[in-house]
Amino acid sequence: MKGRVKVTIVGAGNVGASCAQRIAEKGYADVVLLDIIEGLPQGKALDIQQSANIIGFNSKITGTNNYETTAKSDVVIITSGVARKPGMSRDDLLITNQKIVSEVTRNIAKYSPNCVIIIATNPVDAMVYLALHESKFPRRRVLGLSGVLDGARLATFIAEELKVSVEDISPCVIGEHGKSMVVIPRLTTVKGTPITQLLPADKIAKLIDRTVNGGAEIVALLKTGSAFYAPSAALVEMAESVIKNKKRVLICAARVDGEYGIRDTVLGMPVKLSKNGIEQMVKLELTTEEKTALANSAKAVQELIQVMKLK
Ligand code: 2OP
Repeated sequence: MKGRVKVTIVGAGNVGASCAQRIAEKGYADVVLLDIIEGLPQGKALDIQQSANIIGFNSKITGTNNYETTAKSDVVIITSGVARKPGMSRDDLLITNQKIVSEVTRNIAKYSPNCVIIIATNPVDAMVYLALHESKFPRRRVLGLSGVLDGARLATFIAEELKVSVEDISPCVIGEHGKSMVVIPRLTTVKGTPITQLLPADKIAKLIDRTVNGGAEIVALLKTGSAFYAPSAALVEMAESVIKNKKRVLICAARVDGEYGIRDTVLGMPVKLSKNGIEQMVKLELTTEEKTALANSAKAVQELIQVMKLK
């Protein structure tokens, strides 16, 4: 029988530490929290570990500054990098985070050559493309945080508007995790009823706009960093489908090679997530208008990929 599932989280900032806490509390995996800052991952790991007696979990959580401690991880969540400041776009982080994610990915691939990598670092679509390039992993084993988070924001706004339970909303947001993301009202439903039948077009337009700017809204409020509660919840939902082989269909940033007639880029799309990572790319039937919006999104990501000048 295989031993305990091992999850490494790279980056002990707000997103990484929240992921570590959420996964430890679930009890189904041991956690390694890695950061370059001496003491930071060790202190946060020890603090979370000391909540075990109260919360009631038996996961082991280890803080470290050394990649050796992460060896043979089943899932690795990469959150390291600089976060946005008010007024910055996710794209503004590209060059700085390219250096960080390149080095992290090379180390992770060295110590955990069979792991599934889930990336939160922005601009996430470009970072997924970069991590595939650096790790040489098959595309099924590298994915990014996008539509699960954007969809959760959309669901929150719809629930508020319609006074329904947020749990009964199935959102559909694909494409770039950025300004060109494609919110699809026709495929966003409240227990099977599309919101196009429940809300007027102008109201839907407002909800779309708030969703597209959902991350920036929180950055503007916090002033010193970006969101981490919803991002960490989304990362753990993705990781859990891999860890528990749940075969969830979740909208994640994934490498496209021909899907929707788009090649050689990364976009948020529905994928079936199991123990081996992306088991299947789930094809949505899109209208011409939706396909055009997705192609526009692909172009925005491809421009970022070009900037990285990968050989
Ligand atoms: C967000 O949208 C951090 O990209 C993440 O908040």
